[in-house]
Amino acid sequence: MATSKRSLQRLLSRVCRETRRTYGAPPQGHGHNPSPSPSSSSSQQLINLEYEYSAHNYHPVPIVFSQAKGSSIWDPEGNKYLDFLSAYSAVNQVIDLKNIIHVSLLTFSIIRLWLGSFMLVKFIPFLEGCINSCNYLALLTQRFKAKGTLTYFKNFSFHKCPFLKVCNMQALIISCCGCFHGRTLAVISMSCDNEATRGFGPLLSGHLKVDFGDVVSLDKIFREQGDKIAGFLFEPIQGEAGVIIPPDGYLKTVRDLCSKYNVLMIADEIQTGLARTGKMLACDWEQVRPDVVILGKALGGGVIPVSAVLADKDVMLCIRPGEHGSTFGGNPLASEVAIASLDVIKEEGLAERSDRLGQEFRHQLLKVQQQFPDIIKEVRGRGLFNAVEFNSKTLSSVSAYDICLKLKERGVLAKPTHDTIVRLTPPLCMSLDELQEGSKTLHEVLELDLPKMQKAKPEKMSSIASTTCDLLPTNLSNKC
Ligand SMILES: Cc1ncc(COP(=O)(O)O)c(C=O)c1O
Repeated sequence: MATSKRSLQRLLSRVCRETRRTYGAPPQGHGHNPSPSPSSSSSQQLINLEYEYSAHNYHPVPIVFSQAKGSSIWDPEGNKYLDFLSAYSAVNQVIDLKNIIHVSLLTFSIIRLWLGSFMLVKFIPFLEGCINSCNYLALLTQRFKAKGTLTYFKNFSFHKCPFLKVCNMQALIISCCGCFHGRTLAVISMSCDNEATRGFGPLLSGHLKVDFGDVVSLDKIFREQGDKIAGFLFEPIQGEAGVIIPPDGYLKTVRDLCSKYNVLMIADEIQTGLARTGKMLACDWEQVRPDVVILGKALGGGVIPVSAVLADKDVMLCIRPGEHGSTFGGNPLASEVAIASLDVIKEEGLAERSDRLGQEFRHQLLKVQQQFPDIIKEVRGRGLFNAVEFNSKTLSSVSAYDICLKLKERGVLAKPTHDTIVRLTPPLCMSLDELQEGSKTLHEVLELDLPKMQKAKPEKMSSIASTTCDLLPTNLSNKC
């Protein structure tokens, strides 16, 4: 143990010495070098170290970020990449970190954490910014994002709102097949993703599922179980499921049904919110106002985790002192960062920009689809929240992850979701030329790399067993 610690320290100090040479201003005079030598690169050493010592809870595309500016990323060797992921929409806005950290340090030097026991001058502008930007009357802050989802379960599912009249401990939350709301026990209990649930448990009861976009089933379940249902939790566009857009009018009908049956409409806008889809909130596309909105990711501007639950006072003030808390919720640094994040979105008109550039980007991607109609099944998205879904049959043994590896080799960073979908969600500051570069690179991968990959890989085995939801027999009201 001691030896492995010492060797880790030795390796780290060597890697840091090497990395420091390229750290600072973005490296000059480097374009993308498509074949850096992995054995001599500090990237490879860092990848090996991470693989050796970090939990393997993600399956990253093997690239190390050393420097970033706008939509560009540099690795320690000075290779430049375009970011088409934005940390799953946590970096919607590229904010001036130096400025924020400077202001935050000043804040810290004059104020310390107050742990909810006193009041804090910095918290008020954050409250004001969030409430004004999203048009709600009250806010609950959290330190970690999943805690945002945790909060509304804890507080709203168990008859906290007097007007819900749901019997304590019998309350149900309805969620959607294919949903993703984080990794806490409460929300993985709703997940249809076997990898998130297998081997973990016991899962929580108290929830039922409906198909996303299916208002007939929602109406049925509300009608049959309405007296027990506290809330309907949904993503306005399902992100992890592969940027799944519901049918037109879905959000409006959900609003009507929730009002009719006295059920809280709870929108998880952690990924879709804050200008990502071309509106401040994705629910704004149908001018729908949920009872509860959860924000995370971009609220922290990609700098630190900040999350918040927004609601009006009739809902929010059901929480009484002592019933809920978060040690670091609304701390000065988080408040400062969140204020800046919201300011940048408004000042730079990022929602409008996302809408405009998103249309252009899909236009480009549709042209790629026209050239590979058998391979690309669908291009879909709203604003700069987009996905390309491949045809699993014609992709054959190649996965969306393999395609992402080839995109990376050609200087474009994206991540797959499921076996056949690549999500394309660049920072909202990305230029038209850079978007064009992204679609051109996808074209190159499909034209030049895909045939070689298909030759190199044996036929795929059927994966039906692994994609069928394990929870189906016990928890789901509908098929999943
Ligand atoms: C819609 C949605 N909800 C909740 C979460 C959970 O966020 P975190 O991983 O920060 O807890 C995510 C993360 O990707 C998300 O996309």
